[in-house]
Amino acid sequence: MPPLVFAGEARDLEAALGEVANGQAFLLQAGECAESFRDFTAVSIREKLKILLQMSVVMIYGSGLPLVKVGRIAGQFAKPRSEPTERVGEIELPSFFGHMVNDDAPTLEARTPDPARLLRVYHQSAATLNLLRAFTNGGFADLTQVHTWNQQFVASSPEGQRYNVLAADIERALDFVRACGIDVAHAQRLHRVDLWTSHEGLVLDYEEALTRKDSLTGDWYDCSAHMLWIGERTHQLGGAHVEFFAGVNNPLGIKLGPTATAGEALELCERLNPARRPGRLTLIVRMGAERLVEALPPIIRAVRDAGHPVVWTTDPMHANVFRTSTGVKTRSFEAIMAEIVAFFSICRGEGVWPGGIHIEFTGEDVTECLGGSAAVLEEELTARYESLCDPRLNARQSLDLAFRVAELMQQQDPRAGA
Ligand code: PEP
Ligand code: CO
Repeated sequence: MPPLVFAGEARDLEAALGEVANGQAFLLQAGECAESFRDFTAVSIREKLKILLQMSVVMIYGSGLPLVKVGRIAGQFAKPRSEPTERVGEIELPSFFGHMVNDDAPTLEARTPDPARLLRVYHQSAATLNLLRAFTNGGFADLTQVHTWNQQFVASSPEGQRYNVLAADIERALDFVRACGIDVAHAQRLHRVDLWTSHEGLVLDYEEALTRKDSLTGDWYDCSAHMLWIGERTHQLGGAHVEFFAGVNNPLGIKLGPTATAGEALELCERLNPARRPGRLTLIVRMGAERLVEALPPIIRAVRDAGHPVVWTTDPMHANVFRTSTGVKTRSFEAIMAEIVAFFSICRGEGVWPGGIHIEFTGEDVTECLGGSAAVLEEELTARYESLCDPRLNARQSLDLAFRVAELMQQQDPRAGA
């Protein structure tokens, strides 16, 4: 099969992430926890893109800096699990590992891995990427459309109204620029956006099959996505995932969980980015607000002092999962915000640039995470709980989060960056 992305695009993303590593831009990496074979429509792709565009506008407007937009999309179909099996009622079943591997239905047949799923992932990713390219280049993401990205169920909420005020400000600014005689209609940058794709490089059978030698440079790239990340459960130094990704040239992410140490982080940097290319490595910290305070500073110091130009980013989602008393897997908006706030403050304290956020969201009006300004309550969680795996922020919560992150970014002096 042909590759899904071109190596030159991965190099462009590395350059853009290099700016983030230098403290001159931010990264927003966001999207699905697990893409689904069932939820595969133009509408669902479009609604996710709308939220991403809204969050981007809020964060760019707030920070006054460029934003690198990377979706967890067009390939995010494989889920690492802590346990190989799970109990459903009376029976013990293989865990659900994402639609790339098995089906989520609670039967032994559905949970049996099927390699034909790799092909289906490829085709769904190709179609998704095609539509994203069409939307982002074909006028949908045009800045003059900034008002139209607000969805109906968001528009009436406090953050939706706040967004409308901001959108009106942007439209006024565009009118002003137009009135000054600047040719807005032909300013390409206003009419299209760069959106990059990423997913966890978990199933190496899939990643290997899409790894190709670039005809321009002779270098190897994993052409299943622009950026790949290595998950919290698979970043062992002697492990297959680190070995594989050391050999491809894409920008890479590494999740660092609560037990990560300075020595381990440094060895991963040396192994995966020996040439110290800015933008090659993004360290995605997901420890929980409390653990962060103790565990992150020594890691930052070790990596910083060794001169590794990494992007520091926070995933405030994965260390904040818990089960309610009735057994529903959820996260609270306040815990997510607390981890982001702690991350920004620790980075500043250590003199490195807090480069961005990594989150799981959906464009739908789901009730999976607790809280937010129009708070989702514990008893409401089951009303519209649709995630295949982890609880995602809904569109309103995502926008609310973007405004709060933009405020944190404003407190940032760009010159204080690494
Ligand atoms: C994820 O990003 O969906 C994930 C499983 O993360 P982690 O590897 O950090 O647990
Ligand atoms: Co997840």
